[in-house]
Amino acid sequence: MEISKRILQMQFSEIRKLIPFAEEAKKKGVKVYHLNIGQPDIKTPEEFFQAINKYKGKTLKYENSQGMSILIESFMKYYKGINIDFNKDEIYITNGASEGIQHTLMTICDYDDEILVPEPYYTNYNNIAKIAGVNIVSFNTLRKDGFHLKNKEEIVNKISNKTKAMLISNPGNPTGVVYTKEEIRMLADIAKEHNLFIIADEVYREFIYDKLNFVSFMYMKDILDRIILIDSISKRYSACGARIGMVATKNKDISKQLLKLCQSRLSVSTIDQIGAANLINVQKEYFKEVNIEYEKRRNILYDGLININGVNCKKPEGAFYIIAQLPIKNSNDFAKWMLTNFNYENKTVMITPAKGFYSSANLGVDEVRLSYCINCEDLKESIKLLNKGLEVYNKLNK
Ligand SMILES: Cc1ncc(COP(=O)(O)O)c(C=O)c1O
Repeated sequence: MEISKRILQMQFSEIRKLIPFAEEAKKKGVKVYHLNIGQPDIKTPEEFFQAINKYKGKTLKYENSQGMSILIESFMKYYKGINIDFNKDEIYITNGASEGIQHTLMTICDYDDEILVPEPYYTNYNNIAKIAGVNIVSFNTLRKDGFHLKNKEEIVNKISNKTKAMLISNPGNPTGVVYTKEEIRMLADIAKEHNLFIIADEVYREFIYDKLNFVSFMYMKDILDRIILIDSISKRYSACGARIGMVATKNKDISKQLLKLCQSRLSVSTIDQIGAANLINVQKEYFKEVNIEYEKRRNILYDGLININGVNCKKPEGAFYIIAQLPIKNSNDFAKWMLTNFNYENKTVMITPAKGFYSSANLGVDEVRLSYCINCEDLKESIKLLNKGLEVYNKLNK
């Protein structure tokens, strides 16, 4: 008996693989600060739970495969508020953005097709692509440029006759980049000139700092038929556990076929859809307050990091992550050591080695991705611990 080659080609989560070491440290009484995962600590808005508490149904039936009307309409209303018009038949509710991306790849790609992704990228794209039998081809973006797109030629050079789409996370996980209007326009032009789709993963849309403007691909009116928009309530409303996302597209060929995949998994959780639909009633003030909090955290983390000897990073503009180069040889080894061999006053920090966010060999080996989903005081403590950890580690490894 043999298991599949497909499953063997998939990888265990790079973000979660150090969890057993963190659990061990906690068992020994060490407090672990989590800078490793994009799980916001912000409260999910009351509106979500209020709607669920009001639910009076006696039987939890399968819902419509496309998604419940109340939820689709609430997404439509949200988009109207940011000048994006979707009709009801253009939105498909999914089990998080994750399933949305997978359904999209299954719909537009054949086995062995390629998608272009700026590197470093959200590591889970690898497994989602593998499930669909699709190959990720990356083009490099650099820390020194704040991971902005500098060179159209370099992107175009990666296009082959198998390339179907570009998959773009904006704002970026793990980079924190927020693409300018010119960059979005450049990608739109590439899509037009080379007949590609754009899978626009905009799950971090509401997390933009320094008063920057967010430019959605949906504002590029001349390529609307090429765009498949991916969204989710996970980050926007700090509701990762609800597993509610969506795919929206103006391309009728795609939306028609997407329904087959939605039907194949019958439906998405009724209760979570009911809760999510009521999030449209969350006041605008909520986003303002959350943004102020994240911007404060971003500043604390960035200022703290650049003051550590030998650390290099650029100030992220959005989302809640930063890629930092540390004065070490191997961040995998260091991240593990921080959990297994180090503590200061019985405290340590969990960080994510950045290697898993790159597909090019040798890139990211001395980098980590840090998230700022913990409160300001804990962030300050984490920076202190990271600094101490680097000092001790480098003395031991001289
Ligand atoms: C860029 C990006 N896209 C998609 C997802 C998945 O989101 P969801 O929880 O909606 O599946 C994440 C989660 O971290 C992400 O960072």
